[in-house]
Amino acid sequence: MGSQSAVDYPDYEARTDLARGPVYRLLRSIYRFLKHRVLFGTLLYPYGMLRHQALLRSADRSQHHTYTAFYRSPIQLQALTGPLTAFCTDRSPPGRRLEILQFACSNGAEAYTMAAALMQAHPALDFHIEASDLHQDLVHKAIAARYSRDEVLHHEHITEEFLAGTFDRDGDGFVVKPGLRARVSFSQASLIDPALDQRFRAADIVVAQNVLFHLDRAAAQAAFENLVRLLRPRAALLIEGMDLDLKVMLTRRHQLVPLRYRCREIHEQSRSHMPLAWWRYYYGAEPYSILRRDRFRRYGTVFTRALSVQD
Ligand SMILES: C[S@@+](CC[C@H](N)C(=O)[O-])C[C@H]1O[C@@H](n2cnc3c(N)ncnc32)[C@H](O)[C@@H]1O
Repeated sequence: MGSQSAVDYPDYEARTDLARGPVYRLLRSIYRFLKHRVLFGTLLYPYGMLRHQALLRSADRSQHHTYTAFYRSPIQLQALTGPLTAFCTDRSPPGRRLEILQFACSNGAEAYTMAAALMQAHPALDFHIEASDLHQDLVHKAIAARYSRDEVLHHEHITEEFLAGTFDRDGDGFVVKPGLRARVSFSQASLIDPALDQRFRAADIVVAQNVLFHLDRAAAQAAFENLVRLLRPRAALLIEGMDLDLKVMLTRRHQLVPLRYRCREIHEQSRSHMPLAWWRYYYGAEPYSILRRDRFRRYGTVFTRALSVQD
């Protein structure tokens, strides 16, 4: 790997800081704290909320945002491989495969990342990910499973361990390992298709991340109802990236329970590339507020449902 891969960037910044001495580092920390936590995180918070609500009422959404990344949310992945897998498998009969449905999968990075994390954490677990996206060209790309250096390395959380477990090298590029490719299938599907529950069978884990905020409110609501119809009675939903008020309303309506596991860290990790003036973007999300009574529901990205058979 070259000397300036995505893996190197944080180290480079830390080394530069170290070279500048302790006084510089202290002043820098104070400056960052005042700017991020005090000014943008507290003083401008009410203004940001009002501006964002106004923007949500008028913004044109686009279903052509396809940004994705390998290993984008490592803490959420720990929730998946830890408490969530335990929740979904602890009552299933021996030998039953864990079924995962993933929508809006873009070029496949998220599906292969989840498959790699599950295989590493649970080598004996039988699971399958059925992934889909609105755009057929992305589906072809995901099936090919061949990525450039930039497509693989551009996100700062990528680790050498993840790379080694997920890819074989192919010249200057990366190809997903055959064992992982066998665990994932891809097809074209729209989340707002009224017949979605006839195309797919209900699953243990349903994933639709960073897509609902690209739909207008009515379409996002229809998509959410589709997702809930695809949950088995005991199942989990991963839903990072949707309007927070809508999430509170719809998860309550469907009696979905937010997983508290590292909720704040997962939310903050999902905002790590958000400009400080987050309210200027319809897909922006406010900083985590410990003052909200519904904070786990509002900021949570992982929800569970455990209905009795009669439900
Ligand atoms: C920002 S990307 C998110 C990709 C991935 N889920 C992630 O979090 O990294 C949004 C994806 O949603 C897809 N998309 C947009 N509208 C959709 C719809 N109605 N049904 C299914 N996928 C859709 C886009 O094609 C795009 O790949």
